[in-house]
Amino acid sequence: MLTVLKTLHSDVCSVDIIDLFDKDPNRAEGFSVRFGDLLFDYSKTRITPEVRGALTALCEKRDVAAKREAMFQGGRINETEQRAVLHTALRDPDGPELLVDGGDIRAPLRKTVERMEALAGRVRSGEMQGPGGAFTDVVNIGIGGSDLGPVMATLALAPYHDGPRCHFVSNVDGAHIHDILQRIDPKTTLVIVASKTFTTIETMTNAATARRWIEAGGGDPAQQFLALSTSEEETAAFGIPRKHVFGFEDWVGGRYSVWGPIGLSVMLAVGPENFRAFLAGGKSMDDHFRSAPWQQNMPVMLALTGIWHNQVCGYPTRAVLPYDQRLRRLPAYLQQLEMESNGKSVAMDGSPLPYPTGPVVWGEPGTNGQHAFYQLLHQGTSVIPAEFLVAAKGHEPELAHHHKLLVANCLAQSEALMRGRSLEEACVLMRAKGYEGAELERQARHRVFPGNRPSTTLIYPQLTPHVLGQIIALYEHRVFVEGVILGINSFDQWGVELGKELANTLAPLVAGEKSAEGKDGSTRALLDFVREAGN
Ligand code: F6P
Repeated sequence: MLTVLKTLHSDVCSVDIIDLFDKDPNRAEGFSVRFGDLLFDYSKTRITPEVRGALTALCEKRDVAAKREAMFQGGRINETEQRAVLHTALRDPDGPELLVDGGDIRAPLRKTVERMEALAGRVRSGEMQGPGGAFTDVVNIGIGGSDLGPVMATLALAPYHDGPRCHFVSNVDGAHIHDILQRIDPKTTLVIVASKTFTTIETMTNAATARRWIEAGGGDPAQQFLALSTSEEETAAFGIPRKHVFGFEDWVGGRYSVWGPIGLSVMLAVGPENFRAFLAGGKSMDDHFRSAPWQQNMPVMLALTGIWHNQVCGYPTRAVLPYDQRLRRLPAYLQQLEMESNGKSVAMDGSPLPYPTGPVVWGEPGTNGQHAFYQLLHQGTSVIPAEFLVAAKGHEPELAHHHKLLVANCLAQSEALMRGRSLEEACVLMRAKGYEGAELERQARHRVFPGNRPSTTLIYPQLTPHVLGQIIALYEHRVFVEGVILGINSFDQWGVELGKELANTLAPLVAGEKSAEGKDGSTRALLDFVREAGN
């Protein structure tokens, strides 16, 4: 599949990215995509017109268009779970009838959003209260997709917060829930238990702890617990009344679920109108993805840049670097979205894949990362494609000078990665500092930057709910396109199961209720240590 691209890669691997701009004065425009409020610039990569042609040909070869439509139309593209993949419907509750298993899903979706909005209105106005009065705090208990999306979006939209304070508990480590509950009031806290399955051990353990805390603090779980789940049975078994349950269907994957009931904490924080704007942003990206030709299609070009860097150039990781403090959980969110979706080793038909699949995704906000790991990005021996995100303006007009500096740093980094600094340039610098001879060269070598390190930049006017919706849908579709090209199922996650199973068998061993016989030597030794330390 990648042979043509591998050949093209050997042709261009010695090319200096900066020279591509000299050859083509319109490169910046020609190698970027504009859609709505967003500009995606991939000109600081080695992608040439020939490479791009070969990359877009992959979309044809892999039938991306047909598979994309199958997804939007409710085909069971998650073949290992025999499920449709319809998170896109969540952001279009007012769309036309959409049939799944013979029934229209749009009407129930609309009803759910309206119920969420009614509840959010009552909580935010103080009409719905706890025993201590209006809800001051919301604690969302969930993990994975039932946590990362709501956390990321709530933080991102901080300037729009006018509802109760939102807290997020995910880790089964008791320290997490302890440190949050100790600073809030059990009589004015609304607890949301967010779990698609409502069986996830971390979430159910935290939910039970929260319920005990509410009871002990004079609260009333019947009034103060909400459930977001696909399982009516499990939510009922936990004792949450039906009117407090917001359901969704199994065609919403956990890591794609922030657009529906799992996003309730976001809606409580920023209000229904802003949440609708977030959905509308996502929907606008869907429409663009479905209609734009490959070369002008932002998710497609973002995906093809990923395929180029990972599968063709062989760079095994990519760094997501938002120059946007409020996107500080975006890298963690994308880790789940991309690595749980595309971290697979077999093709849809079960055969082993002959090429690497999803890259390791990691990152931190700029400028913080600059003072931590950028050293390696600039001078390390590994090439790590950097994906920058930045807003043209911030939300604090009185701090515009901060924002200008932030933007300058972001642009400086992509330029520095591309340009580098030659030995000759470094020698000039060192000579100016008074160095000479062998010492001059020794000092200069430490100051050489190889350059030619690829990066992309996604720039947007301001991080509004609509723009956030566009950005998240952009990355979702990127993952989809990469998955289709790689020929894998991006919508299952069997790789998380084995660890879960073993944790269940280990729990009684850690508690000392069962012998560790049959376990490997390392596990036995670690268990001995825990027991000796008095767990
Ligand atoms: O362990 C992985 C996973 O299944 C994720 O895919 C999911 O987002 C998370 O666990 C939480 O699952 P649930 O929402 O069912 O509690």
